[in-house]
Amino acid sequence: MKQSSEYLLGVSKTELERLRFQHSVWKSVTDRFFDRLNIQRGWKCLDVGSGPGFVSFDLRERVGDEGEITGLEPSEFYLERFKEQCVKKGWTNVKFIHGTAETAQLPERYYDLIFARWVISFVPDPERFLERLCSALRAGGVIALQDYIYDGLNFFPRGGAFDGMLDAVRAYWYSGGGDPDVAARIPSLFKKYDVRLIDYTPNCLAGDGSSPIAEWAHRFFTTHIHSMVEKGIITKDQGDAMWEDWLAHRKNPQAIFFSPIVVDMAGILL
Ligand SMILES: C[S@@+](CC[C@H](N)C(=O)[O-])C[C@H]1O[C@@H](n2cnc3c(N)ncnc32)[C@H](O)[C@@H]1O
Repeated sequence: MKQSSEYLLGVSKTELERLRFQHSVWKSVTDRFFDRLNIQRGWKCLDVGSGPGFVSFDLRERVGDEGEITGLEPSEFYLERFKEQCVKKGWTNVKFIHGTAETAQLPERYYDLIFARWVISFVPDPERFLERLCSALRAGGVIALQDYIYDGLNFFPRGGAFDGMLDAVRAYWYSGGGDPDVAARIPSLFKKYDVRLIDYTPNCLAGDGSSPIAEWAHRFFTTHIHSMVEKGIITKDQGDAMWEDWLAHRKNPQAIFFSPIVVDMAGILL
């Protein structure tokens, strides 16, 4: 199986629309996390791996005109969509950095909040990622992440080909150089970089086959089962069987889907 440091999920209009839908499904989880962090008007925030800016827009609402949001994103395509929205909204206090967390020039000790949702699980070197971000955080500032412990993924009743999906997705993440269970490593990494853990909250969403959370997973599998086959993680026959089992569960009114666990993780830089 090929290991690559390219961003696993790729960049496209379809993926952008998947991210938009994903945001609508998980927004309430992120909003509750932000409520607990007590984000203040006037804060300077860095949204790492902002994509087209869905979370940045919510952060902008919280920090107001007197705050500042910076989107850091390696995809020019996403950054352009992000900029277009800011122009439409007439926002002048949103900045953009084109690059990765590991390599971008970031101001030292500057931000009140650094946030990254579904980014650190994709990177080959989470230590370097965090080290670079912590050097851009002011003392007393907050670093906040939302990312996976992929365990949790299940579609009951079990017993069909979809049961193999958890292992397949795990292998898919590893093939891109990432870690699908990265959230388990964050408390010890925070310690290493003098960050005091203040929040570690797991979230799992569940619903029947017609629920928004099942539709969220559907949009992922629609594209990414093909990519798993292309990468040799599963055979075409296994991919077809998983897809058929998935569709059968979606039609079964007794079936119940559980999402992977997404952990809210926050700490204060000492
Ligand atoms: C799954 S998307 C999540 C987007 C956004 N955070 C959200 O929650 O809607 C992951 C994003 O991280 C970006 N990304 C990947 N590797 C990165 C890195 N090393 N540094 C910063 N961003 C990265 C990708 O280009 C993509 O836009």
